[in-house]
Amino acid sequence: MNNLLVIEHPLIKRDITLLRDASTSSEDFRIVLKRIASLMVFEVTKDMRLTSFGVQTPLEKTEGYSTADEVILVPVLRAGLGMLEAYLAFIPNAKVGHIGMYRDEATLKPVDYYAKLPPNLSKSVVIVIDPMLATGGSASAAIGYLKQREAKNIRLNCIVAAPEGVKRVEEEHPEVRIYAAVLDRELNKNGYILPGLGDAGDRIFGT
Ligand code: PRP
Ligand code: URA
Repeated sequence: MNNLLVIEHPLIKRDITLLRDASTSSEDFRIVLKRIASLMVFEVTKDMRLTSFGVQTPLEKTEGYSTADEVILVPVLRAGLGMLEAYLAFIPNAKVGHIGMYRDEATLKPVDYYAKLPPNLSKSVVIVIDPMLATGGSASAAIGYLKQREAKNIRLNCIVAAPEGVKRVEEEHPEVRIYAAVLDRELNKNGYILPGLGDAGDRIFGT
């Protein structure tokens, strides 16, 4: 698990508990998911480059900064949408690409149904966002698709990761850093993460 960074924080641990709780409503689930993503943004973007320039305070001139890297956020539909606003709050000028993908319930293989990406993938910091990394099929396919379109600097932000998914993304995309809020135990025979939080898309959207 060399490429995995689990971002540990007491507030994240508390919030993961709320997401796991089957009695949490969709309304609260969305609020808490956004809150966890907000806490993770700092670590995921820690290496972003800055441009410095002079800024005049009411008292004197000092050094100021703006971000130099162009950022492209890629939520994997549907559940990745639950993390998007958190990122846009901090990086309002980020571009957003969407990749639509669902897991076939029988084969557990990802089926892609939509993709719309901004230009300049090769020169941008590309952040794939999806709360669940289970078999890793969806994340790996999304990353593969972005690489085919020349994306070079890709990272993956999930909330709950399973060892199987981490292993798969590491094997297929060894250059991609994975950020998770928690590493869970295993997958069940239906490909659900244990203990997990159930189907993230269904819990966000109440389906
Ligand atoms: C969920 C989740 C990931 C995928 C993870 O999406 O948001 O995209 O499963 O599973 P994997 O690692 O085994 O591929 P889902 O297929 O349920 O689609 P949805 O978000 O539209 O509900
Ligand atoms: N997708 C989910 O939403 N949850 C899981 O546990 C596995 C895949």
